[in-house]
Amino acid sequence: MTLREAWTEFIVADDYEQHMAAIGQAQANALLVAELVAAAQPQTGSRVLIAGAGTGQMFEYCPAGLWDAFDLTCSDLNPTFLRKLRSRHACTTAVDDIEDSRLDPGFSLIVVVLVLEHVDWRKALASLARLRPERVAIVIQRNPEGRLPQRERPGTMRMFGTELNPKFLDAGEVVAEFARCGFALRSQAERPVPDGKTMAGLLFARGAGDLRRGNPPSALTASPRSPERTLSPSAFKPGTHS
Ligand SMILES: C[S@@+](CC[C@H](N)C(=O)[O-])C[C@H]1O[C@@H](n2cnc3c(N)ncnc32)[C@H](O)[C@@H]1O
Repeated sequence: MTLREAWTEFIVADDYEQHMAAIGQAQANALLVAELVAAAQPQTGSRVLIAGAGTGQMFEYCPAGLWDAFDLTCSDLNPTFLRKLRSRHACTTAVDDIEDSRLDPGFSLIVVVLVLEHVDWRKALASLARLRPERVAIVIQRNPEGRLPQRERPGTMRMFGTELNPKFLDAGEVVAEFARCGFALRSQAERPVPDGKTMAGLLFARGAGDLRRGNPPSALTASPRSPERTLSPSAFKPGTHS
C-alpha cells in the first residue's frame, strides 16, 4: 500500500486523532502553528490556506480566534477528513493534491503541517510556489537519535512503522529546495513532543526575504510555555522512526 492509498482509503480519522492527541503531537503542532501565523502576520481578510489539513484536529488546540480574521481555506486529498474538519470549523474546503494544486493562486499564507513527509515533497514545494503565496509556514517532524519509545498505535495507525514509512526530511534540504522555488527562510521555531520527537517550524517568504539583505533567519519569540531555540537548518536531522 502506498502512503497516498493509505491516506485516502485506509486510515480512519478517529485512529489518527487518537494517536496524535495521546502523544501530545496535535497540541504541540497547534501551538507552533499559532507562533508561525503570528510571525507571518497575514493581513486581516486575506486568503490563508491550510494544505493537507486532514480532519482539522489542530483547531481543537489552537488559541481561540486564531483564524477568525482570515478568509480560510482547508485542503486535503481525503474528502472524509474534510467533512470532519468542517464539523469543527466553518471554512472553505477543497479536495486538492498538494503535489499538483489546482487552487486559485494568491494566498497571503499557506500552512503545511506534517504533510511533506507523506508526499513527493519536492513536487509539493513546487506546487505551493505556483500558488504564489507571500508566506509559507511548514512544520516537519524531527525524531530523536535511536528508537522512539515503543507504544501501541490505535487501529489503522498500526500500519505506520511497519508497512508505511513516511520519509522524514532534513530541514536544510527543504530550505535549499524552496530557495530554488523563490522562497527564503525568514524564521524558525521548534516544539518538543513528550515522546522525544521535535516539531520544527519553518517560515518562508516569497521573493528576496531577509536573507538576501544579509540578515540571518531569526527564531520566533519564545513564550513562557514555548522552549524554542534558534536552529540552523543543519541542526535538523531526519529521523528513522514514526
Ligand atoms: C500526517 S497527516 C497531517 C494532517 C494535518 N496536517 C495535521 O497536522 O493533523 C497527513 C495529511 O496529509 C494528507 N495528504 C496526503 N497526501 C496528500 C496529498 N498528495 N495532497 C493533499 N493532502 C495529502 C492526508 O490525507 C493527511 O490528512
